[in-house]
Amino acid sequence: MSEIVYFNGEFVGEEDVKISPRDRGFLFADGVYEVAKYYNGKPFRYNDHIERLKRSLSELKISFKDISGLSAIFAQLILRNNLDKLHAGIYVQISRGQHKRIHSFPSNLKPTIYAYAFELPSFIENLENGIKVITREDIRWQRCDIKSVSLLPNTMLFNEATEADAGECILIREGMVTEATHSSVLGVKNGVVITRPLSNFILPGITRKVILEICAENGIQVEERMFSEKELYEFDEIIIAGTGSEITPAIQVNDKVIGNKKPGKITRLLQQKFFELV
Ligand SMILES: Cc1ncc(COP(=O)(O)O)c(C=O)c1O
Repeated sequence: MSEIVYFNGEFVGEEDVKISPRDRGFLFADGVYEVAKYYNGKPFRYNDHIERLKRSLSELKISFKDISGLSAIFAQLILRNNLDKLHAGIYVQISRGQHKRIHSFPSNLKPTIYAYAFELPSFIENLENGIKVITREDIRWQRCDIKSVSLLPNTMLFNEATEADAGECILIREGMVTEATHSSVLGVKNGVVITRPLSNFILPGITRKVILEICAENGIQVEERMFSEKELYEFDEIIIAGTGSEITPAIQVNDKVIGNKKPGKITRLLQQKFFELV
């Protein structure tokens, strides 16, 4: 049976989606996206995802009116694809719409919206045992705070991780860690959780935000500050955080082992509190 997806106002079979070659998402990667997680049919941090989507749209001056209708659409996608008793993800992408190819933003375009649901299990083995990661120069642009579909640097760098048999690639800009190709990065040193402050160089990760809330509620000290690649190697624990990764420990960075190659105490506590929330 074909997957039911949502495209420009209708629920259709995936094979019935027809996107114009003039769509600016296709021509310029002129669009934004979100990925939200649904645990047994219930969205996790839905409002945070919607607020971030609204911000991405507004930064690119894409005027999409029907934000309030999205929650019902996503719920239908989960139900119609029999994902309501599983861990699932919703992918939604909104591009500026279609127009003859010009660089400036044409006015009065009707944005193109595409959304689908997919099974997104928790990766138990990674959560339990941790993953190996690599580091690479952050070759992305300077507006990484926008969740744009223009992800070629991210895919190139993640592909390098895959080729190196690693689970993520941590990005370094001017010697300092920014984030990873599709996750936030947090470190732990002497019981303190350290993560780069929000800026145009990182996506405001929702899992990162949840972790900082858990820290505040449980008396775990947090430092939002820049940290270097050198400091990364000296952390007691490293966390790769994201909607898909949840709270995944990194136990090796390139050739350097972190925390005896075992997930640490703070990571375990954060995982426990996180899964109580979801
Ligand atoms: C570049 C980047 N950073 C961080 C994250 C983590 O964000 P979130 O926790 O909201 O999924 C993502 C998620 O896709 C990402 O693509």
